[in-house]
Amino acid sequence: MADTQRREVETKNKVITSIFRISNLLTQQIDLDEILYSILLSAKKDLGFSAACLFLVNEEKTLLECRMITGFGDKGEYWAYNKPFHMDKHDCMETKVVKSGRVMYFEDTLNDPRLTAIDRGITQRLNRGRVVYAPLTVKGTIIGCMGVNRPMVDLTISEEEIEAFTIFANQASIIIENSQFSKQLMSERNLNESILESSPNGILTIDSDGRIISLNRAGEDILSVKQGELLTMNMSDAVDRYQTLSILRDILLHPSIRSSREYDFRRDNGSRCCLEVTPSPFKDIDGNETGTLFLFRDLTEKKIISEQVQRMGKLASIGQLAAGVSHEIRNPLMGIGATLELTLENLALDHPQREMLMRSIEETERIDDIISDLLDLARPREMNFESGNVNDIIKEACQFLSGICQKENIGLISDFDDALSSIHMDKDKVRQTIINIALNSIQSMENTGVLNISTSAPNRAYYTLSNGGIQITIEDNGKGIAPEMKEKVFDPFFTTRPDGTGLGLYNCHKVVEAHHGSIFIEDGASGGTKVTVLLPGTVE
Ligand SMILES: Nc1ncnc2c1ncn2[C@@H]1O[C@H](COP(=O)(O)OP(=O)(O)OP(=O)(O)O)[C@@H](O)[C@H]1O
Ligand SMILES: [Mg+2]
Repeated sequence: MADTQRREVETKNKVITSIFRISNLLTQQIDLDEILYSILLSAKKDLGFSAACLFLVNEEKTLLECRMITGFGDKGEYWAYNKPFHMDKHDCMETKVVKSGRVMYFEDTLNDPRLTAIDRGITQRLNRGRVVYAPLTVKGTIIGCMGVNRPMVDLTISEEEIEAFTIFANQASIIIENSQFSKQLMSERNLNESILESSPNGILTIDSDGRIISLNRAGEDILSVKQGELLTMNMSDAVDRYQTLSILRDILLHPSIRSSREYDFRRDNGSRCCLEVTPSPFKDIDGNETGTLFLFRDLTEKKIISEQVQRMGKLASIGQLAAGVSHEIRNPLMGIGATLELTLENLALDHPQREMLMRSIEETERIDDIISDLLDLARPREMNFESGNVNDIIKEACQFLSGICQKENIGLISDFDDALSSIHMDKDKVRQTIINIALNSIQSMENTGVLNISTSAPNRAYYTLSNGGIQITIEDNGKGIAPEMKEKVFDPFFTTRPDGTGLGLYNCHKVVEAHHGSIFIEDGASGGTKVTVLLPGTVE
């Protein structure tokens, strides 16, 4: 084979090897710098050059910056990285190639007549010999250029080699574009993921086959479920694992539900959960529905606060009304009483109507007692605040209750958090409040069941309600409270017990309110009722 023919075959082989080598980069998720470095190494090694460099135009298209350079020596390379070319000001080989989009070969980088003073300066710094530059083009736009160098002492660069290098540079452009595109995709994906993860709202998505494909951290917390256990599971299997998810399944079963709705339910761990759920279909770029996204907001705390505020308002107005009316009745009643007593005094001891008058006087006294009770409703409770440990108070209450529980065949379990610090409270009234609540529980269990009384730091869900402080929980597994009665149980004189006065919980509410605390009633985890009392750390 003739020399020129052999050289041609060798060059073709080199191109194929180099392209094969850099094409592997297309399948890898690696950093752009690593990709550029691999491209230059391949240009040097496979195509037989001593040095190579790659310049990219900056985003503003004002500078042509050296992004990778190898084989020109440390000093020259340091200089190249730090001295970008200004596209407007600098007239040199690199800017010419980028502006013209043409491949340029300089057989002698000191004496070629096309060279400018800038070129000659760079040649000296980088110790250049023979140089070929090819533009890097992505979708018709020139993004930079790539150059290779061969020392003057070596052979000139042949036309085949220039052609091979041009093919190589085109391939390199595709790889650079691909890596930039995937970098953009990655950063968009990371951005989306971090938005999802930092959202305070729960977000759960399912695909068109009903499989759960994502659930963010807030969603896990709100629903009290574990994302790892649910991903790729279909909704009905997920509901088997977490009953809580049945709300979302029911929405899916009723595609007409497309607007926000509120749900008040129990999580699998028994805690109350009020959610606002907004389902919305999500679509691919072609507009096809590919699944459903559920956005849910936890309204539990807001709801509990608003129920409390409502209750406080209602009880305050009941108290005021009762006190106002009672006051007005008392004066005429006193008049009636006095007249009756006077009439009685004037009647003979054996008068037949004497008996009737005496009964009427007793009835007015009864009305007067009721009026006293009613006036008492609105009267602020006198409090005697002192510092004390709530555990000690509850222990005293438990001692009192244990005898009754024993008699009623009810188990009493208490659990105290010893780490609780002292709070300001009216010890007698707090003790009486706990006893009142516990008596209701005992009465609801009718000779069987377990009464749990515990103290702890406030649960996370109630934290803002209690402003630090402490939490007392009284839970029974008795007959529970019917939903329609829940909002009435704190009303004065509301009772379902034949011998009840209906003032127990009303008084508890008054005491807790005077401590600036909160009291609320929920269903117990195993049926029955759970009453939570939160008392703040300090009372002004
Ligand atoms: N733990 C409970 N389980 C079931 N129902 C309860 C419970 N606690 C309260 N209730 C309901 O709330 C009503 C009001 O309770 P509250 O303590 O105010 O009055 P009462 O117990 O009926 O009478 P009393 O004035 O003697 O306490 C009760 O009659 C009962 O229907
Ligand atoms: Mg009671």
